[in-house]
Amino acid sequence: MAVVETLDEGLDFMSGFQDLVPIRPTEHLGKSDMTFDGRLPEPGLKIWEDGGEVGCGGKIWIAGELLSKYLLDKGLHDKKKVVEIGSGTGLAGIALALSEKRDDDLKIYITDIEELVPLMNKNISLNGVESTVFARTLSWGAELPDYAKEDVDVVLAADCVYLEKAFPLLEKTLIDLTSDNEDCLILMSYRKRRKADSKFFKKIKKNFTIKQINDFKDYDYYLKQSVNLFQLIRNKPKAQVQTESL
Ligand SMILES: C[S@@+](CC[C@H](N)C(=O)[O-])C[C@H]1O[C@@H](n2cnc3c(N)ncnc32)[C@H](O)[C@@H]1O
Repeated sequence: MAVVETLDEGLDFMSGFQDLVPIRPTEHLGKSDMTFDGRLPEPGLKIWEDGGEVGCGGKIWIAGELLSKYLLDKGLHDKKKVVEIGSGTGLAGIALALSEKRDDDLKIYITDIEELVPLMNKNISLNGVESTVFARTLSWGAELPDYAKEDVDVVLAADCVYLEKAFPLLEKTLIDLTSDNEDCLILMSYRKRRKADSKFFKKIKKNFTIKQINDFKDYDYYLKQSVNLFQLIRNKPKAQVQTESL
């Protein structure tokens, strides 16, 4: 599967929420079939790509491919509620559903800006995962929708660090998603493109410890392409020191 990256190009902005989403030239269009190097049986996962109608989310990005492979290899066996942010096509969340096959006790919310919900729904149907995967709007920085307010076990984020303007919004959403459960597992795949990205990682250190994950197949392959996988661990508040007044 060849993933073409063009996020640096055409940083032309749409209005409203879409001004956070760079437009990209149309390249992939239509349906891609993927087995992720045999991790999924033929015919693999099916993803419809919209050719960039709604910003950068309508195609598959290499960081999404990495996160999908990691989830297929490692699984999330005891986790029950997963929220993927900036899902785009829904690739990672749908790959997870196909590998786990746990309709009864696993709910995966694939989320993005409102305009991408129809594309995510199309990909949910193409893969027959309607009983596990739900496409929803989740705009970074906005109040969390009800389904994401409580009991989130896992947050997935593939290629969401790329636009400086959106960094504070993304950070707020990560904080909000982990406020109810500080032990929530956050898996973030990231492709380094610009120096400015380091500002995001520097800023979130106040609230999160960033751990590089390297114990997976193809780590070197992705690293060569500047694609990394991190676990973000919510920092626990320092114990309040009780001082007694004399
Ligand atoms: C580079 S794409 C990655 C898509 C997908 N995760 C992948 O790896 O293939 C970044 C995604 O973040 C979404 N996004 C950007 N700003 C957003 C915001 N403020 N709220 C919600 N989603 C946003 C975009 O719509 C897009 O789908």
